[in-house]
Amino acid sequence: MQALEGGIDPGHAAFLHSKRSGANRRGPFLINRLMAQDIEAHVHVLQEDYGVLIATRREHEEGEFWRTNVFLMPFYTMAGRFGDTPIVRWSGWIPMDDENTMRWQVECDTVQPILQNDSWVQERVAQGRPPLGQDLDDTLAEDLEPPSHRIGSPFRTLPNQENDYFMDRSVQKEWNYSGMSNGNVEDQAVTESMGVIYARHREHLGTTDLGIIATRQVLLRAAKAIRDTGATPRGVDNPGAYRVNASNMVLPTGGDWVVRVREATKAEPGVYTRMASL
Ligand SMILES: [Fe+2]
Repeated sequence: MQALEGGIDPGHAAFLHSKRSGANRRGPFLINRLMAQDIEAHVHVLQEDYGVLIATRREHEEGEFWRTNVFLMPFYTMAGRFGDTPIVRWSGWIPMDDENTMRWQVECDTVQPILQNDSWVQERVAQGRPPLGQDLDDTLAEDLEPPSHRIGSPFRTLPNQENDYFMDRSVQKEWNYSGMSNGNVEDQAVTESMGVIYARHREHLGTTDLGIIATRQVLLRAAKAIRDTGATPRGVDNPGAYRVNASNMVLPTGGDWVVRVREATKAEPGVYTRMASL
C-alpha cells in the first residue's frame, strides 16, 4: 500500500526528484520547472466513479498551475504528464503477498499506435535509448538482479537496500537531492526504507496527504462493503469510468477549479488536448 501511495503523493517530487543548483528550473521537463517555481502543494480531492481524483494547486505567474494524480480502483495510479506530450504513463501496483508488490509501469500514446509515434521515439532517443524498445534485454541484464529464488525474481531491481541503491555522494553533492540514478530508484528507496509494513500509528499525515487519506477510505469502504453485504466495488461494472488521464493545466486565479479539472481529466480515444495556456 505504501508503494502505491507514492504514486498519488503530489508533494514529494519537488523535493525527492529535484536537482541541485536550480537545474529543475532550467531542465527539459516543463512540469519540473513549474513545480520548482512553487514547491508548496495545495492538495484537494474528489471521489470519483473510478476512485479518487487528486488535484494539486501551485502558484503560477499566469494564474494557478493545477496538476492531477488519479487513483483508479483497485491498484492503479497515474500522474500528470511531464511535458506537452500525448504520451501517458500509469502504474499498476500488484500485491504479490502481504509484504511484496509488483510495480508495472506502462506508457502509451493517446493519439496513435505507440510504435508509429514520433514523440515517444524522440523521447527515447533523447535519453540515449534505442527507438523501439530493442534495449529490453539490455535493460534486464543491466538494471535487474540475476534470476534467483527470491520472490519477484527475475524482476527485482539491482539497486536495492543492501547496496544503498547505488547512492553516490559526489552525484548528491553536485547534481541531485538523492545521489541516486533516477526517479524510480528514488521512489523505491524511500518506499522500502519505511519497512515492509509501516506502523501506521507512528505516521504524521499532513495536508499534502489528503489524496492518500481519501484513497485509504475508498479501499476500506469497498473491502467492508464486500464483507458485510457482498457489494461490488466501484469501477468493476463501470469500465467507461476509467476513461481518464492525469492532466496539467493553468487556470485563472480563484476560479472554479472542480469543473475545469474534471473536464481536463476526461479522456477520449484518439483525442489529445494540449495544455492550451502553457
Ligand atoms: Fe516519485
